[in-house]
Amino acid sequence: MTELRIIDLSASVNGKKILNGVNLHIKGGEIHALMGPNGAGKSTLGNVLIGHPNYVIEGGSITLDGKEFVDKTPEERARAGLFLAFQSPIAIPGVKISSFLRTAYKQLHPEDKTTVTQFYDRVKKELKKVGLDESFLSRSVNDGFSGGERKRLEILQMVILRPKIIILDEIDSGLDVDALNLVATEIMDYFNGEVGFLMITHYQRILKNIDPNFVHVLVNGRIAKEGNKELAVQIEERGYDWIRSE
Ligand SMILES: Nc1ncnc2c1ncn2[C@@H]1O[C@H](COP(=O)(O)OP(=O)(O)OP(=O)(O)O)[C@@H](O)[C@H]1O
Ligand SMILES: [Mg+2]
Repeated sequence: MTELRIIDLSASVNGKKILNGVNLHIKGGEIHALMGPNGAGKSTLGNVLIGHPNYVIEGGSITLDGKEFVDKTPEERARAGLFLAFQSPIAIPGVKISSFLRTAYKQLHPEDKTTVTQFYDRVKKELKKVGLDESFLSRSVNDGFSGGERKRLEILQMVILRPKIIILDEIDSGLDVDALNLVATEIMDYFNGEVGFLMITHYQRILKNIDPNFVHVLVNGRIAKEGNKELAVQIEERGYDWIRSE
């Protein structure tokens, strides 16, 4: 059973401490929502988890299925099954989406015997579902994409790669209503019961369609409050000040 354990995690960027002892425990099949004011450290947490080189871990531990991640490279973490859909996905000029997906898939599932043709058939099917046409396959990753197209490509990656733990950083901002419903459907139907989700979001809108098991609120680099779906509703109504002052 997949299990991501984040224990007393502290991290800094450019010498500035951003995370101050974060504790989170995500099991396969669970959906966790992470909320919190701008600048609280939510994206930092995602970046620290995938091993972004700008972020320095000051203390604590991250384990996936019992294996310590802190000293692992981003590639090793991805291969172990951790996936982050970025808040602002980056462009990789010169790398075609088709080869990017195939390489990433082979790294993640080296034992898989799917032929190239079978693989691309699957990619084309999913591409259609996320609302992108086949011409995208021969374009470079995110190069010249619209904001929503970048996000749709992140969803495609998530569906094709089938990681164990998926972190979605504001996948709901910048998506149109159809794409938003698609994400919700994919998460509830396709992954439910298998994959552990950490959904970073500002709005409870996406949580109406996706039933989170837990809602965590990050304030000043620390989990300041935890609850269920109801907490997200309260935040929408009352903002964050009441949590800050608790
Ligand atoms: N590379 C960096 N250099 C300097 N400061 C950084 C860097 N990355 C993050 N920070 C700072 O860390 C703090 C937390 O940023 P982070 O992006 O994690 O916030 P967030 O909770 O995701 O906010 P938002 O809701 O606006 O996306 C911010 O004050 C930000 O300016
Ligand atoms: Mg952010």
